Amino acid sequence: MQKPDLLCISHRGAMGHAPENTLSSVRKALELGAPCIEIDVHHVDGHLVVFHDIRLERTTNGTGYLRERSFEYLRSLDAGDGQQIPTLEEVCDVIDSQACLNIELKGMDAAAAVAELLTRLIREGWDNEKLLVSSFNYPELLEMRRLHVDVKFGALLHGIPVDGTKFAEDLHVYSVHPSIDFVNQFIVDDAHSRGLKIFVYGVDHPEDIAKMQEMGVDGVFTGFPERVLENYAQGDKFKWT
Ligand code: G3P
Ligand code: MG
Repeated sequence: MQKPDLLCISHRGAMGHAPENTLSSVRKALELGAPCIEIDVHHVDGHLVVFHDIRLERTTNGTGYLRERSFEYLRSLDAGDGQQIPTLEEVCDVIDSQACLNIELKGMDAAAAVAELLTRLIREGWDNEKLLVSSFNYPELLEMRRLHVDVKFGALLHGIPVDGTKFAEDLHVYSVHPSIDFVNQFIVDDAHSRGLKIFVYGVDHPEDIAKMQEMGVDGVFTGFPERVLENYAQGDKFKWT
């Protein structure tokens, strides 16, 4: 029987297996064969750092707000298993177009710096069809678009808007990324009726993965990519087309 398509986007590297948003987590996602990898990026002290929270305590041995710290201090910290907080460029070097990369813009002002880096990487040979930039911060997505970076965009969502995914259509994004906490059949069908892909985040349990496939979502963000890869077709050499 033809297996259903459900794209696997490995979350924060492969956070179910290695410290989130570290190089080992990204390498693990590649090793497991994830066709797409998501990481979180903040712009701090003139550098693009791969990190999720606004504070340092949960995932490092540091303290305080990420954006109030120097790059030197951030790089001195243990982000898990003795690893440094990576830069976006280091993650790009590790992935090296072997998988699609979804960069989630965190914070308030990462767009311009990410645009500059991606423009250079694309000029140097990165396949732009393997890049997707997403954010909860929609002005940041609009800023990236204003800077004419030739990548796909995704709008993150945590909640249920009154007019479905119209906001995402208005943003002219490729995809909408709701949380599993709020995804329902209406949102899935509404996104598809507007020509949007729908990728759901927070999908780790096998029952949830199966449920998302039944609802017809296009892909899931998971910390356990093998759970999706073992059971659902991915399509060869996936690109965000
Ligand atoms: O990009 C999908 C997902 O990562 C969004 O939520 O909090 O895990 O960054 P969060
Ligand atoms: Mg994220």
